[in-house]
Amino acid sequence: MTNLRGKRVILGVTGGIACYKSADLASKLAQQGAQVDVILTSAAEQFITPTCFSAVTGRQTWTDRDMYAPDVTGAFPHIALARAADVVIIAPITANTLAKLANGLADNLLTTTVLATRAPLILAPAMETHMWEHPATQANVQTLRARGAHVVGPELGHLASGATGIGRMAEPTTLLEAIRYVLGQNGPLRGYKVLITAGATREPIDPVRFITNPSSGKMGVALAAAARDAGATTVLVHGPINVPVPYGVRTVPVTTAQEMLDAVLAEVEDTDVFIAAAAVADFRPTRQAAQKLKKDVVGPTWTLTLERTPDILGTVGHLRQEGHRPYVVVGFAAETQNLIAAAQEKLTRKGLDLIVANDITAPDAGFAVDTNRVTVIEREGTITPWPTLPKDVVAERLMVQIIDRLRKMGILKAESDDTLTSE
Ligand code: CTP
Repeated sequence: MTNLRGKRVILGVTGGIACYKSADLASKLAQQGAQVDVILTSAAEQFITPTCFSAVTGRQTWTDRDMYAPDVTGAFPHIALARAADVVIIAPITANTLAKLANGLADNLLTTTVLATRAPLILAPAMETHMWEHPATQANVQTLRARGAHVVGPELGHLASGATGIGRMAEPTTLLEAIRYVLGQNGPLRGYKVLITAGATREPIDPVRFITNPSSGKMGVALAAAARDAGATTVLVHGPINVPVPYGVRTVPVTTAQEMLDAVLAEVEDTDVFIAAAAVADFRPTRQAAQKLKKDVVGPTWTLTLERTPDILGTVGHLRQEGHRPYVVVGFAAETQNLIAAAQEKLTRKGLDLIVANDITAPDAGFAVDTNRVTVIEREGTITPWPTLPKDVVAERLMVQIIDRLRKMGILKAESDDTLTSE
């Protein structure tokens, strides 16, 4: 499960039409195991009812009518909610509520709770373009950012007025990611850097043709999300991928194996953990044609001469053997036969701590599917087959194993505030 499990999330909803999407966000949060307390402003109630949120959160939805009703302990709702919160997100937040928060106003249950909490604050503005661009709104946003608020969006697109412009609320999936990022800030990898490669590389033959493979980048992206959730400064060096990059992850897009190696070497010096999940093309054409190759010119048959690409993981593994960082080096082994023996050979040859082996002929593992069935092999010789799991669960379990390793090496200190579990 993600770092949302068991977390107390306050979802503030203010009066904008985007609040129909907030119900989806509340549902997604609840599905990931968070306890979601929704607070509606009276303007939000013009658009959506408390019942809608209670139905998806399974909890009371708070409104201004509850403001002066103490609980059994005598605590008023804004104090009880503010104390319990791990994170507060307001989605959508109107220009009006932004202005109130920037000025410390506390005139309803939501603004009072925000003033009373120490929890981190995420704001997802949604409004007409002119309202967003107004100097007053921009100044308020700047003030809130300077105080540490995370402002996500607004995005460009269709607005309820029929216009197109900046002002759409960020999508619930992006907001969910932002919440995971913010919760991760106190995770065990806080202050550590994780570098990950993902996706396929493309090795050009001519300006319109290239050699590649079907990797989607899903496994590497899931690993980046898991590292981010654990609080790491996460950098994803990726080839062309068809999955969205997680919020809070720095990306370095590349095309060829050589570019991927250069990007990795530029990042590796201060990296603590390196994970190579990319499906790097092992060969590239010895030379790239400057112009498109014409069929009539190359003839009915044609020979393409290939050469080896650099081994990115091997290069990092050998750097580490020479006493450089990273502290932990992890590889993947995609095999079609002799899975364990071939993976063990790669672990030794590339100087790794861990290798994640998968049989890519299995329908539930490997390229472009959402699940993976892997066997994790450690340098010390342990071989652990894992069941078929969603790629994001494989990523989270792997991160737990990496964190354990860093602890055993004495690099990570005590089990202070783990936000990940292996179950
Ligand atoms: N890898 C890499 N650079 C390469 C090739 C592979 O960094 N040029 C990494 C992959 O990201 C993966 C691991 O090495 O983590 C193993 O990749 P794989 O393709 O299974 O192995 P190869 O080294 O290519 O060996 P072989 O072709 O013999 O299977």
